[in-house]
Amino acid sequence: MATVDPKTVPYKTLYTGAKMPVVGMGTFGSDHADPEAVAASVRGAIPAGYRSFDCAACYGNEDVIGQIFADAFAEGLVTREELFIASKVWNDMHGDGDVLLACAKTLKDLKLDYLDMYYVHWPFPNYHAPGCDVDSRNPDAVPFTVERFMKTWRQMERLVDMGLTKHIGMSNMTIPKLEAVLPLCRIKPAAIEMELHPCFQQPELFKYCQDKGIEIVAFCPIGSPERPERDKMPEDIADIELPEMKAIAAAHGVHPAVICIKWSVQRGSCPIPFSLKEKNYVMNLKCVTEDPLTEEEMKIIEGLDRNNRLIKGHVFLWEGAKDWHDLWDEDGVIVK
Ligand SMILES: NC(=O)c1ccc[n+]([C@@H]2O[C@H](COP(=O)([O-])OP(=O)(O)OC[C@H]3O[C@@H](n4cnc5c(N)ncnc54)[C@H](OP(=O)(O)O)[C@@H]3O)[C@@H](O)[C@H]2O)c1
Repeated sequence: MATVDPKTVPYKTLYTGAKMPVVGMGTFGSDHADPEAVAASVRGAIPAGYRSFDCAACYGNEDVIGQIFADAFAEGLVTREELFIASKVWNDMHGDGDVLLACAKTLKDLKLDYLDMYYVHWPFPNYHAPGCDVDSRNPDAVPFTVERFMKTWRQMERLVDMGLTKHIGMSNMTIPKLEAVLPLCRIKPAAIEMELHPCFQQPELFKYCQDKGIEIVAFCPIGSPERPERDKMPEDIADIELPEMKAIAAAHGVHPAVICIKWSVQRGSCPIPFSLKEKNYVMNLKCVTEDPLTEEEMKIIEGLDRNNRLIKGHVFLWEGAKDWHDLWDEDGVIVK
């Protein structure tokens, strides 16, 4: 019997009818956790009751995580059908035919026949060295244009046709970008993965996705306290250190991180927290099955939004760009 009965964890129903649990486990161990340490959390998370996992090629650990899945299936811990496994195409694999290669490599590493969700990790082609540990500025980096993105999305749609993934999604999008690309999609994104935590609530983008029937997956739901140094800015505010979060946590007898998860789910999104510690990742799942936040507590947290984006995308910027939100035309002119 799992620590948390997966049947008690709420889920979202995607437009195919597939069910996505409202809490998944992230697998980006930042720069301080080696692949084996991240895989150990995945290994523990399955018997703990997790059924959803957020993977990505650029996290550099899909092969070890794949072995955990293979072992879990072989041991009869869980079946493939019971898991919801997502991955993402990295920025250096947006070229013609590359998306298929990237997906094939991910499937091989994860030792799976199909994915449940495959995201475009960032909406522009770029190069980033393996391990994510260097500045990614590169003379070949190119900004977002509708044409370039749709070239990538057409390949994503092919993956669904080929049965290699059940759903496709986007990540790190903005409303102007979605406005530009959604009308062109033959297969619409089933989910959008975006940074969301109390100090960065993106209310407009959140409502936009809800209105379009696109599920919202919240990354860095706890405010990613251990994110790499390159993503840290002196002005960043730590969600879990805010007195309001600490007070609500004290009232529930839990860590403020847990309040972040409860709030995220009650708001309507699907957080994908990561933890190296069993006690923490078990609680991150269990907390959505018990002791909900009150309306008043939800309102207090809503008031904490400071538009404090943590993952600023600055490491991806190409020469001359100021903001990765910009839309560019083919001649390199900012059109937004
Ligand atoms: N699409 C994208 O571009 C993108 C970008 C970033 C992240 N992601 C995804 O989102 C996932 C989550 O983001 P993240 O890992 O950066 O940040 P996060 O989940 O917001 O924070 C993780 C940190 O919170 C701590 N923590 C977790 N649960 C806790 C608890 N119950 N009590 C106290 N501390 C707790 C963990 O420390 P301990 O290990 O000590 O518990 C860890 O340091 C990633 O793993 C990745 O899958 C996607």
